[in-house]
Amino acid sequence: MKLAVLVSGRGSNLQALIDACAADDFPAEIALVLSNKADAYGLERASNANIPTAVLSHKDFDDRESFDAAMSAKIEDSGAELVCLAGFMRLLSDGFVRQWRDRLINIHPSLLPAFKGLHVHERTIEEGARFSGCTVHYVRPAMDEGPIISQAVVAVHPTDTPDDLAARILEQEHIIYPRAVKYIAEGRVRVSAERVLIEDHIVPEGALNNPAN
Ligand code: GRF
Repeated sequence: MKLAVLVSGRGSNLQALIDACAADDFPAEIALVLSNKADAYGLERASNANIPTAVLSHKDFDDRESFDAAMSAKIEDSGAELVCLAGFMRLLSDGFVRQWRDRLINIHPSLLPAFKGLHVHERTIEEGARFSGCTVHYVRPAMDEGPIISQAVVAVHPTDTPDDLAARILEQEHIIYPRAVKYIAEGRVRVSAERVLIEDHIVPEGALNNPAN
């Protein structure tokens, strides 16, 4: 399955996908890395892995719709069948989300539907949550909403700073994002009544200590 990965920054999740795709038996390859920022480090990661890149600055477009239409055209040209948001910091128009419905996924650093939006780790700590984690989900028009494909849980330690928590969660992001892509590329994922069903997959008992979901 061909992937397009959309980034705006550091691209560590992109790197996890690049590394996963490098394995012979991984059923996906990255056909395009697209960024809205010319200086996104993710673009360098893509170039290092000989993956085609494209930059479209949202500042060059009159409105969100025309920017998104230009992105769609680039993604279609690449032949991508699945679009992976990986730290892409632009809200997407309804039209874009509709066009790529059930072919557009995102990773968010909380256990959705808790803590949508920005400053997730600060808010998680402020609320005194004992656990946090990350979620891979299909994208719907509302931000950080959509059928959940995969999640991993981490403990929140009493002494955690937002950066500590972010780092602990990021490790899990790098595990569950490639795994979710693998399930999709294997054709085992379907959305039914806005819930994701993964064929032959049951989260094992004890998975909280050894995330395998
Ligand atoms: C990650 O925490 C991801 O969950 C969120 O944005 C961050 C991107 O990090 N959507 P990176 O660019 O993949 O390193």
